Amino acid sequence: MFMLNSSIGKKFVQAVSGAFLILFLLLHGTINFFSVIDSFTGKFGAPDGLFMKGCEFMALPIVDIMVPILALGFVIHIGFGIWLTVENVRARGGVKRYEVASKGAADSWSARNMAVLGVMVLGFLFFHLAHFWAKMQLQDFTGGEAENPYMLLLQTFGNPWILGGYIVWFVAIFLHLAHGFWSMFQTIGWNGGKWFGRLKVISVIVAALIILLFVASAANAFLQDNFIQPDLLDALKAAAVPAV
Ligand code: HEM
Repeated sequence: MFMLNSSIGKKFVQAVSGAFLILFLLLHGTINFFSVIDSFTGKFGAPDGLFMKGCEFMALPIVDIMVPILALGFVIHIGFGIWLTVENVRARGGVKRYEVASKGAADSWSARNMAVLGVMVLGFLFFHLAHFWAKMQLQDFTGGEAENPYMLLLQTFGNPWILGGYIVWFVAIFLHLAHGFWSMFQTIGWNGGKWFGRLKVISVIVAALIILLFVASAANAFLQDNFIQPDLLDALKAAAVPAV
């Protein structure tokens, strides 16, 4: 089978699953950015804030169906990524990764470090899921009570060390995406002539846009907790504790 037997076939699977994950990140980043908009409309922390509505949308049963599909997208992307890396390291001593001849891919730091970046992205993802997903959607799934998402934002990003860790993660994701998005076009053969340079620029712009959405929501939550509304976290915590 083409997808499994050839290096190009595997790269194709890698490109399609990567494109799917990029769409997820665009949606996820946009909903997170709602929390920044809420700060400007005075609704950060309010039950009818835009971010709260976005999280409620993500908890709809129809969106829940997407969760196993999303997980499968990650598993395929990671599985094929490991497979491609192991094969290429074996075949070429780790110097040149893919069968597609490309000076650009061989030159850039991100291209040579896609596997390392991928491992960093995945490692921190578990940490992230423990911060948010385990306290929201997993609770919905298991009959528990989902926690207030504004409270989780403040609790997580209010701490400068955790914020710093997340920023390192975002940089790794940016590098992984900027190369991966461009590489996707190369895999499907759109790397000829003048588009070669243009696609690189477009890839950097798309990756930067996604990461800026995440950085803005994390930095905003830090500012809210430490400077703008320092009492909000305690108020949300108190509201979450049922009165005895
Ligand atoms: C400022 C940055 C981020 C914030 C504030 C944030 C926030 C959240 C929240 C609130 C949830 C739970 C949603 C729910 O259960 O309804 C969640 C889940 C999740 N996040 Fe993030 N996230 C951020 C960055 C990222 C990044 C960069 C990735 C991927 C590389 C990511 C991947 C996921 C995944 C896979 C889930 C579980 C699926 C889902 O619930 O939709 N997140 N995140």
